[in-house]
Amino acid sequence: MNVRSITGRVKYCGVNDRSKTLFENLWQMPLGVSYNSYMVRGSAASALIDGCEVAHDNDYSARVLEALDGASPDFLVVNHVEPDHTGAVPMLHCLFPDMKIVGNAKTVDMLKGFYGLPDDCFRTVADGESLSLGDVTLRFFLTPMVHWPETMVTFIPEEGVLFSGDAFGCFGALDGAVIDDAMDGIDRYFDEAYRYYGCIVAKYGRFVLNAIKKCSVLDIKIICSTHGPVWRANVSRIVEQYSRMAAWEADKGVVIAYGSMYGHTAAMAEELAAMLAERGVRTIRLHDLSYAAKGSVLADVMRYGTLVVASPTYNGELFPPVAAFVSALVERGIENRTVGVMGSYTWGPMAAKKLAAAFEGTKVNLLAPAPMLKQNLIADAESEITALADAIVSAL
Ligand code: FEO
Repeated sequence: MNVRSITGRVKYCGVNDRSKTLFENLWQMPLGVSYNSYMVRGSAASALIDGCEVAHDNDYSARVLEALDGASPDFLVVNHVEPDHTGAVPMLHCLFPDMKIVGNAKTVDMLKGFYGLPDDCFRTVADGESLSLGDVTLRFFLTPMVHWPETMVTFIPEEGVLFSGDAFGCFGALDGAVIDDAMDGIDRYFDEAYRYYGCIVAKYGRFVLNAIKKCSVLDIKIICSTHGPVWRANVSRIVEQYSRMAAWEADKGVVIAYGSMYGHTAAMAEELAAMLAERGVRTIRLHDLSYAAKGSVLADVMRYGTLVVASPTYNGELFPPVAAFVSALVERGIENRTVGVMGSYTWGPMAAKKLAAAFEGTKVNLLAPAPMLKQNLIADAESEITALADAIVSAL
């Protein structure tokens, strides 16, 4: 069995990255990431779909040459220009100088800007346009802002294969098999889709929903995204998860994300978690924002419907890791969440007020009360923490 054969005409030639510590120099990836690329060989022409990051040029070019088996690709389709998929484009252009790079007008503009490629190496396509490779056709549909303006998808109607770019993608390198139905433990990739979406795509949910709606008329049998497994057995599951994330729909559960300088705000968080557990809440996730992987916290916020944020008062403001976290949520347009806030102080009780102000203007349901702990007088704050626990349970 050739694990890289997706259909008779479509082969996988992507690579895995298990050594990059921060994706976009920002997001930790405990399970790594794959940069997926595909070769489509028609009876009259062949096309590479999506590329790879520059650091993997060697592995990637070997995969491409193997998939070509002595031929040259006529086209390289770029569904998304972000350099994790196009860093290898200059190498491909040198290796195959007659290959046309296919993208929409925005794609071409960006590729020229990033890599200084000449005008005559491009073929510009419009929404709905087709390109025949002989016995198979590539159809292009523009799906802007998933999560860049030039994003598009490519569909092969004869095979029901959708090359979706970052849409329906996830973190997590591939451990041998490429297609979901040849793997066990597939749930971990769905978990990584929460991380990927929360870190990378979450601000653009309404555009993701537009893209899903646009693709819904296609008879899709296989989804080939740019990150993670090829979806064949789980097409409807990944589309449903993306639809829910894009609409800020959530599972039942409570995320408690806190900062703490000397352990007092942490004690409030622990106390609240214990009270929730005593009240029968089973899904509770605590994160210390000074140490937690930011992507893990965002993944939990994407997944669960209730969030409590707790912060010490620091220079009359929020503790910096908490401020950065809340800013990331507001930037992503958090909505449809029940949110509780609480905090601590020594002489100026500002944290809870600042947290409530930070969520002003967002579409969240802010709970009362907002407990504030003075110094270490935990007994004084107990009744308000209890009341917040009760309010959370009532809202679940
Ligand atoms: Fe995987 Fe938006 O790049």
